Amino acid sequence: MKADVLKLLLQSHAEGDESSFRRAALQLASAESVAGHVRIADEIRAIIAKMPPTSTRKHGAVVDIAVPRGEIADILEGGHRDERLRDIVLRPEVEETLKRLLSENRARARLERFGVAPRRRLLFHGAPGCGKTLAAAVLAGEMGLPLMTVRFDALFSRFLGATAVQLRAIFAEMPRRPGVYLFDEFDSVAKARGDAQDVGEMNRVVTAFLQLVDADQSGSILVAATNHVELLDRAVFRRFDVIVPFDKPTADQIAVLMKMRLSTVGFPDEAAARLSTQAVGWSFADVARACDDAVRTMALDDRDEISERDVVVALDGLKQRNIPAFT
Ligand SMILES: Nc1ncnc2c1ncn2[C@@H]1O[C@H](COP(=O)(O)OP(=O)(O)OP(=O)(O)O)[C@@H](O)[C@H]1O
Ligand SMILES: [Mg+2]
Repeated sequence: MKADVLKLLLQSHAEGDESSFRRAALQLASAESVAGHVRIADEIRAIIAKMPPTSTRKHGAVVDIAVPRGEIADILEGGHRDERLRDIVLRPEVEETLKRLLSENRARARLERFGVAPRRRLLFHGAPGCGKTLAAAVLAGEMGLPLMTVRFDALFSRFLGATAVQLRAIFAEMPRRPGVYLFDEFDSVAKARGDAQDVGEMNRVVTAFLQLVDADQSGSILVAATNHVELLDRAVFRRFDVIVPFDKPTADQIAVLMKMRLSTVGFPDEAAARLSTQAVGWSFADVARACDDAVRTMALDDRDEISERDVVVALDGLKQRNIPAFT
């Protein structure tokens, strides 16, 4: 399977067929994901993201619809995703919610026949590193839609005074380019409203955002993610169909994540269960980082099986690094 993809990769490069090359590279990333090599897959995807946008193909111009162009490209980053539900550890209720949302959005036509629409305006909130961005990528991957991330920081710093105009441009993209639109660090809108020098401008931005959400008739899924849900006011809440919490993991969820990330290097389930209790209070991202550190140690030692000690050392190392979870 991988040999075929590699052949395709070389062939498309030899023929100067950029778009096939990109597709083959994405397939390679998918193959690595499926094989459990999540890191390698991520690295390949990061390289693909850096490739210049596809300009020409042998048979006339081709446009990769996932990559925004022009002025909007600075504030909207897009790409197809390979993440799936199996890549994320969720509370059972949250998993049910996401599955239900996927079913509704897949059955749009049927729902509309009965005069209802799928719920597609979602607010994800919770502690950092607990899966909000990942869940948006999973929705995109499961729906086969690109994940379009709105870069709020760029929106505010680069276009101060014209933020509402830029927001309008993003909403104008939504019907044209179906996708999962992730408004990450969404609280920066609400927060900025409180402490910006130009309160009038921020009020205009929030008002514009709410109006645009109301007016949006596209089939795109809109996800706003925040770790400061308390900063959002009622008017904002009211616009969302579903509010999804992302909490820090329980010991059981930590064990599941450890198994997910370490099963390919021979980490026994019992060890995961044992060690998971040491990381209670950490975020998923912290646990993932410790697992990666342990794999690094194993690889540097020229072993291909991980030991419980590798993981213990990595967990301790992270504890000592004074990461926010422990301060
Ligand atoms: N629920 C989860 N299941 C599996 N892995 C997770 C989960 N949450 C986080 N991770 C791991 O941590 C990484 C970072 O998580 P993510 O970016 O989704 O956090 P976030 O909630 O968006 O945080 P922030 O508020 O800082 O944006 C993910 O790429 C993944 O490797
Ligand atoms: Mg995030």
